Amino acid sequence: MHKLTLDDVDVHGQRVLIRVDFNVPLNTSEDGRPCVGDDTRIRAALPTIRHVLDHSGKAILVSHLGRPGGQPDPDLSLACVADHLGTLIEERVRFSSNTVGETVEEVINGMSDGSVILLENTRFDSGEKTNDTAFSKALASLADVYVNDAFGAAHRAHASTAGVAEFMDVAALGRLMEDEIEALARIRDTPAHPMVAILGGSKVSDKLGTIRALSETADHLLIGGAMSYTFLKMLGHEVGASRVEADRLDTAEELYKQAEGTIALPTDHVVAEAPEAEAEALVVEDDIPEGLMGLDIGPATVDAYRARILDAATVVWNGPMGVFEVDQFADGTTAVAEALADASDDGAFSVVGGGDSVSALTQSGCADRIRHVSTGGGALLAFFEGASLPGVEALTDA
Ligand code: 3PG
Repeated sequence: MHKLTLDDVDVHGQRVLIRVDFNVPLNTSEDGRPCVGDDTRIRAALPTIRHVLDHSGKAILVSHLGRPGGQPDPDLSLACVADHLGTLIEERVRFSSNTVGETVEEVINGMSDGSVILLENTRFDSGEKTNDTAFSKALASLADVYVNDAFGAAHRAHASTAGVAEFMDVAALGRLMEDEIEALARIRDTPAHPMVAILGGSKVSDKLGTIRALSETADHLLIGGAMSYTFLKMLGHEVGASRVEADRLDTAEELYKQAEGTIALPTDHVVAEAPEAEAEALVVEDDIPEGLMGLDIGPATVDAYRARILDAATVVWNGPMGVFEVDQFADGTTAVAEALADASDDGAFSVVGGGDSVSALTQSGCADRIRHVSTGGGALLAFFEGASLPGVEALTDA
């Protein structure tokens, strides 16, 4: 790793500003208060937080949540995340309703070694997304050391992920960042073959760079989700009322040709009039009749994809195979999750990333059999595309 890590930093007695990615789904609890809906990202940050606390540092946590547009939004407060974190680490986690400023500085200066505070949503300040110098400096003035552990936001050049590091003497990678980069670099740079990549989700346009990059290293690129209908349409199939990106047919053709036989597309589909639980679903082969839309890969495609996955030495998955939130269109996605878990049991190096794939994996109960479950969505795609990650680049060279 070409950047400082936690092992290079003495945090004893230091104020350590830790950028975490606590951009987690929120729910409403029984008593009507906001609560954390899925704490995967919070748990993933615990090794870094524990390291700082165990080494008598003062942990000052900072994160964004949602897209409040540069102004306070009570629905996107991190207050309930502080409570949740407190129950996970069994320590009191203080919460500051300000992100920067004199009051925050005073509270931090009164912190004892080995204690932890979470600051309010960085995106309540318009300086966060513009990577504003004044906001970056204000964040930097809160701490002696900066640690970036927010892999999920590492592709953003924002004040708390990149700008702040310029004003710190020591800016290091956190444990989660290290783990993510190590696992994903193994897929991107030195994959064992056969390598299988499974890409799903709604739009080809979201994943152009990733498809291009993975088609160069993967032996098989298995496509599912609505993006497959853009490819099928381009190949001359009837796709009925399926979602197609008409303005991406040329790009799909170019990608398909460039991949030289690597790309596999669904040969059968679960179709219905609408992506709804009440809609009547049926399986069709090849073409999709008029008025019906493809909402999941069909059983023959599941068998073909499963066989490829079980044969893989390296397997990476991003994006669901269908509308998995609706039970009758979830089988393809669940089958892919199970195939990945079975391949991992047989020794394949497996990585799953992206919010939807990870929640489908969790739903299927297979998550703990996967070698690396990434907390990144956009960051993971950027990494595979070979784009530089500003949240990593800004850190101190080792
Ligand atoms: C994510 O959820 O992908 C990260 O937290 C980044 O969030 P953003 O897309 O709102 O910048």
